[in-house]
This record gives sequence, C-alpha cells and structure tokens, in this order.
Amino acid sequence: MLYKLTLDKLNGSMKILVTGGCGYIGSHTIVDLIQKGYEVISVDNYLNSESEVLQHIKRLTGKDIIAFATDLTNLEETKNIFKAHPDIKGIIHFAALKSVGESTKIPLQYFRNNVGSMLNILECQKEWNIPHFVFSSSCSVYGNPDSLPVTEDTPLKEAESPYARTKQIGEQIIQDFAKANPTLNFILLRYFNPAGIHSSGILKEKAKREVETLVPIIEEVYRGQRDKLIINGGDYPTRDGTCIRDYIHIEDLAEAHTLAIDFLVKNEGQGKLETYNLGTGQGVTILEMIKAMEKVSSTKLNYEIGPKRDGDVIQVFADSTKAKQELGWLPKKGIEDIFNSVL
Ligand SMILES: NC(=O)c1ccc[n+]([C@@H]2O[C@H](COP(=O)([O-])OP(=O)(O)OC[C@H]3O[C@@H](n4cnc5c(N)ncnc54)[C@H](O)[C@@H]3O)[C@@H](O)[C@H]2O)c1
Repeated sequence: MLYKLTLDKLNGSMKILVTGGCGYIGSHTIVDLIQKGYEVISVDNYLNSESEVLQHIKRLTGKDIIAFATDLTNLEETKNIFKAHPDIKGIIHFAALKSVGESTKIPLQYFRNNVGSMLNILECQKEWNIPHFVFSSSCSVYGNPDSLPVTEDTPLKEAESPYARTKQIGEQIIQDFAKANPTLNFILLRYFNPAGIHSSGILKEKAKREVETLVPIIEEVYRGQRDKLIINGGDYPTRDGTCIRDYIHIEDLAEAHTLAIDFLVKNEGQGKLETYNLGTGQGVTILEMIKAMEKVSSTKLNYEIGPKRDGDVIQVFADSTKAKQELGWLPKKGIEDIFNSVL
C-alpha cells in the first residue's frame, strides 16, 4: 500500500512521451500508462498506423491525449515536441519499421528510419535532460542463439535480418550514449512475440504495411479474409519442423512498460542501464499455434508449408526471470487467451 501511494505521488503529473504511440504496442501501452496515473504525449507519423487510434484510447481511458504527427527522422520537427513540452520526464521509444521480411528488401529505409529516429530522440533527451528512456528492442538481437531459453546475458549472434541489425545497433547506441551521460536512466526491453488484442476489443493491431506476424494471419484465415496460411519452412530442426517462438499477450507486454517507467522513476539520477527479456518462457511451434487456434475456435484452418523466409531465426524463447525479479512483472495470459482475445 505504501509503495502504491509513493508511486501515485511520483506519477502525479509525470509526462511520458510515447513514440509510435498509435502503433500496436504503443497504443496498448498508452492505455496502461494512463490507467496507472501517467500523463502521455504520443508522437507518430502514421507510417504503419492510423490517427483514429487516439479516439480508441480516449474511449478506453476517458482522456484526450496530446498527439504530434511528426516524422522522428526529422530532427527539427522532433525538437519542436520538446520545445512545446520541456517537462517531459520519460520517453518510451517504440517508433520503428518492424518487418523482418520487408527489411531484407529495403534495408536502407530500415536503417534510415530506425537508426535515424533513435539518434534524433536521444539528441533531444540530452538537450532537455530527460531522466528516463525505454527502448523497444527485440528477441531478434539474439540471432540463432547457441542455448535456450535465452537470458539477457546470452551472447548476441549475427543478426539474421537488417531489421534485427537496427535493434542491435539501437542497443549499442544507447550503451555508448549512457556511458557519456551517467545520470540518465535507460531500459532496453527485448520483446519476444507480442500477440492478441486488448480485452475490450477496442484496440486492435491494424498495420498499414504488409502483415507478417503469425496471429493476425491466423485470424485472417479464420475469418475467411485469406485463403490459407503459408508456413515459412517445415524442415527446421525443431520438434515438428516449424519455427519456435515465445508468444506474449499484448496486455502483459504493455504493463511491462509501465513497470519499467516506475522502476526508473524510483531510481532517478542513478544512471541505470538495464536490459530485460519479455517473454513467457514457453517455446511454441507454428503448427502448435495453428492447433491452439483450431481448438479455441472449433474451426479447421487451411494451411500449407511454403518456402523458408529470409531473415527468420529457427527458434527463440525467453528466460524472463530478471524482469520478474526486478520489475515485478508477471505475465498472466497464455496462448489460449491470445486466441480468445482475437475471436
Ligand atoms: N510487434 C512485434 O512483433 C515486435 C517484436 C519485437 C519488437 N518490436 C518493436 O516494438 C516497437 C513497436 O512495434 P509495433 O508492433 O507496435 O509496431 P507498429 O508498426 O504497430 O508501431 C510502430 C509505430 O511507429 C510509427 N513510426 C514508424 N517510424 C516512425 C517515424 N520515423 N516517426 C514517427 N513514427 C514512426 C508507425 O507509424 C507505427 O505507428 C517497434 O520498435 C518494433 O520494432 C515489435
């Protein structure tokens, strides 16, 4: 209780800038932050989202949020956000292009967008002396790891795609920047595979660019909006030949960001630089995911094995003990919850 009161007091009028705020994870996180008492500003250039998401957030939280339609690769426009709100205390940096397959086709756009926006936002963090920064990293930084589950100390292998490389580079930039700015706080969150939608059904994953994540594709097949699911590769060295991933419910993932900000706020001025895996620890194959949806929906899904996709790692799942111990984060939902949420 005392802890909650202290946090409520700390949260008081604390302003958090959420970049990529209308995207899938950003929008869910904004809802969680507002519900826990933070004040949020969103910035997005709607490269992969719609501004109508702001209305959905309002429906869920009752709050109008300040939103900037800004491309973060433009330094001057990015600075304008901080000029208007010099009292921002934390940044959660989601904004990025995120498709592994697309990144193998247009790598320079991925580097320009993901690395360029990161440099600009860090430059503003320095100029306005913003104490807290949380970065959306990814399990793709581990490449094809030698041992599983991966902990935060598992050595990073060669990135399998330009997208994964942008995340490795992003982490390295933050590490160097943190050394040069020893009073600022940083958390790198390595997400495994976010899936599902908000329990209200109001927020959804509505990507403008090509969808390549499994659960929305399974959902499209279930709804008859897509003929069949093509599984990218069926002869990987896994228990059924398909890739293994660690699927985490979006609401659990969103909450981890609020906990990360809470943690940094409690440690203001300490120069924290921490990395956390966010996964459930359960490795699930693509075929097992299809079966789970078939069970939950009592529907047979149409699928076939197709060619492997450039950039895919074979298997990866998380040891998230550190996030549990240090952030108090405990994922509550499983795969059936993920599918139930999209039905
Ligand atoms: N969804 C996943 O499976 C997953 C897994 C691991 C890591 N991540 C990372 O999490 C973050 C959020 O992912 P998401 O699934 O919400 O993606 P998303 O595409 O739904 O959201 C990203 C948002 O950033 C915006 N954006 C992109 N470039 C921008 C720029 N230059 N300026 C301003 N806005 C910009 C997009 O319009 C979009 O709204 C990304 O950094 C992604 O790489 C996602």
